[in-house]
Amino acid sequence: MALAAVVLAAGKGTRMKSRRPKVLHRVAGKPMVAHVIQAAREAGVDRLIIVAGYGYEDVTAVVEAEAEVVCQAEQLGTAHAVMQAETKLTDFEGDILVLCGDTPLLTGQTLLGLVAHHRATEAAATVLTAALDNPFGYGRVLRDTSGMVRRIVEQKDGSPGELAVQEINTGVYCFKQAGLFEALRGITPQNQQGEFYLTDIIERYVTGERPVASYLLGDFKEVLGVNDRRQLAEAGRLMRERILNSLMDVGVTVVDPATTFVEAGVTVGMDTVIHPFSFLEGSTTVGEDCTIGPSTRLGNAIIGDGSTVQQSVIIDSRVGRQANIGPYTYIRPGSEVGDGVKIGDFVEIKKSRIGNGSKVPHLSYIGDAEIGAGVNVGAGTITCNYDGAKKWTTIIEDGVFIGSNTNLVAPVRVGAGAYVGAGSTITQDVPPGSLAVARGAQTNIEGWVEEKKKDLRRD
Ligand code: UD1
Ligand code: CA
Repeated sequence: MALAAVVLAAGKGTRMKSRRPKVLHRVAGKPMVAHVIQAAREAGVDRLIIVAGYGYEDVTAVVEAEAEVVCQAEQLGTAHAVMQAETKLTDFEGDILVLCGDTPLLTGQTLLGLVAHHRATEAAATVLTAALDNPFGYGRVLRDTSGMVRRIVEQKDGSPGELAVQEINTGVYCFKQAGLFEALRGITPQNQQGEFYLTDIIERYVTGERPVASYLLGDFKEVLGVNDRRQLAEAGRLMRERILNSLMDVGVTVVDPATTFVEAGVTVGMDTVIHPFSFLEGSTTVGEDCTIGPSTRLGNAIIGDGSTVQQSVIIDSRVGRQANIGPYTYIRPGSEVGDGVKIGDFVEIKKSRIGNGSKVPHLSYIGDAEIGAGVNVGAGTITCNYDGAKKWTTIIEDGVFIGSNTNLVAPVRVGAGAYVGAGSTITQDVPPGSLAVARGAQTNIEGWVEEKKKDLRRD
């Protein structure tokens, strides 16, 4: 049977105290709504519809590649929000999941369980519920004496007796398409908030003798609804814990999970060790047998097997195998560092290629450069890539030796196997196999110090 999902994401999220729509706040590097979309995809939905409203353009920009978007221009409540998807689903035959864009921890596995239960019981509606020690803020699930779900009451509308119930509505449901929109049209905003509550549909179904089922979620952490910044931080912590656990399950050592931050799209190979205060972000991919950290930030970085990166930052760049980076290296976007390369302390690399086995061990700036294999770049070498208007390329061919404290004024090429004397300012190409020295010649004046002292004594 076909399955659709409607994700409610139109609310402003007043309690976030933010200009940004709530569902675009990030958890583990991804907007909350993107996590919900992923869960729906994992559950195998055939159709995916996002209800956007507050910040419609911004939300659409984030989700449109993945889902159909409908607009809820005025946020009149969750029932009203689901109704906006009607035009998309009038001819849809099957079941419809209703999800909230603010529950980023929900898994596809849970949704599959919910749908299977819904179909097995042949219910018209199935509510995903959870038992919480502190149910404050959530809708409570009220049951009759035989244990059947009777209705859901919101925090703001409940009597003290009703609010003592600890079973909550997670805000996730599965409905048969048939009859859903008709029932939604019957809902009225008679409650404390003056909103059209989706939760009211449960009582309508029960009175109309349409079967309502419930599915109790084992891990209540999954349905943490993010309404404020504290819950956002809590969701981040739980998501991080989940990501780190799955890395550890595939053989990654995480020395201190409490101080290790790995985003949702990151992969790490077996026997890699991640030391504390490390941040692995975006689409970062780390190979096997690597050592990452301490205090390292990798953003969309690709690191080959057996490499070490400590106390360093690598952004939008690739590093080969058995490389040794840091401490205190900054590799900026567009760089490609080869196998067995050593980049050392206080070195900045920008949009440069560094060939296999080359070394830039200390105190250098390498920008817009193409460095071949087996090159040694001496301490303090600077590529002068910018003339105040344009950026120029420095080419250093295979096997070159650059003496310490060299300036390479681009555009310039140092030919294969050449040597550059320390302290040179190179402004012209260096032919292969030659020695270039470009610095003032040294003068020694013997006995100068004694003469100077005599002068001073005479004064
Ligand atoms: C809702 C449920 C509550 C449940 C809780 C679970 C209702 C009336 N209450 O409460 O029973 O325990 O979720 O987290 O449904 N939204 C729209 N358009 C609107 C209103 C809301 O798209 O007009 C979206 C919001 O962006 C949000 C979601 O629906 O993603 C839930 O809305 P929210 O205001 O957070 O509902 P809760 O008060 O948390
Ligand atoms: Ca909520």
